[in-house]
Amino acid sequence: MTHIHDTDTLHETHGESTERPCIMEFNDFCFAYDKEPVLRHITLSIHQGDSVVLMGDNGSGKSTLLKAMCGLIHPQQGSYLFNGASVDEQSMDYQCFSKRLHARIGFIFQDSDSQLFCPSVEDEIAFGPRQMQLSEDEINQRINDTLSLLGIEALRNRAPWTLSGGEKKRVAIACVLSMNPDVYCFDEPLAGLDAKTQEWLLGFLKQLKASGKTLIIATHDQSLADELADYFVYMGEYHGYDHLPHTHINL
Ligand SMILES: Nc1ncnc2c1ncn2[C@@H]1O[C@H](COP(=O)(O)OP(=O)(O)OP(=O)(O)O)[C@@H](O)[C@H]1O
Ligand SMILES: [Mg+2]
Repeated sequence: MTHIHDTDTLHETHGESTERPCIMEFNDFCFAYDKEPVLRHITLSIHQGDSVVLMGDNGSGKSTLLKAMCGLIHPQQGSYLFNGASVDEQSMDYQCFSKRLHARIGFIFQDSDSQLFCPSVEDEIAFGPRQMQLSEDEINQRINDTLSLLGIEALRNRAPWTLSGGEKKRVAIACVLSMNPDVYCFDEPLAGLDAKTQEWLLGFLKQLKASGKTLIIATHDQSLADELADYFVYMGEYHGYDHLPHTHINL
């Protein structure tokens, strides 16, 4: 078990983060889909504005940890607090709690098809703001702003399943952006994108970071990691970053 701000490396290079409020806190968090444990005694604190890169082998539990952060799976032992409130089976049963959580922490799946389900891009982007019960005027404003920010105005009336992979990724990001969450979780954001779209996405992630958003990025891409990480969280023991702030969990 490791507490991310307990290591010397992290104190030296990332000490200022302890000044900012803790936004996500895992304590002895355990989870198994069936018998085999996938998340084992995870203890980890993430502070507001942190840019965290999650690395580890295939099957080490990165996507599962992101799901836990977003309240899509729940602790079977231990706890997970978001902004001081316990996220568990009971709290997520309360619709107002789960809606609030989903508005504050957005999840961009590796596979955009798992995320897109509405008949048009416009409906897709409006879905989150509608869940937040914003006014129709505000929803329209957010749709327009998001389409323009991501350069996808031309896709507005398209059916999401007719889009290319890169277009789907932009729409999936737009769906989260339209809710203006505090925390963005990206699962393998560069996977399946061409070089130009990767470059655009990297720039976009840097903008999010510069604007003070908290970023959690699971990736195998070391150059993306190097560009964005304030510190690394490794699922398991192996890593090649002794010189950078890091910790190991899920040992
Ligand atoms: N819905 C599920 N039901 C059963 N087992 C699952 C499910 N989802 C994931 N697993 C298992 O949990 C383990 C961790 O999977 P996870 O997807 O979190 O790993 P990962 O680190 O994201 O891997 P990758 O680098 O391949 O994306 C794997 O052994 C996987 O087979
Ligand atoms: Mg994964």
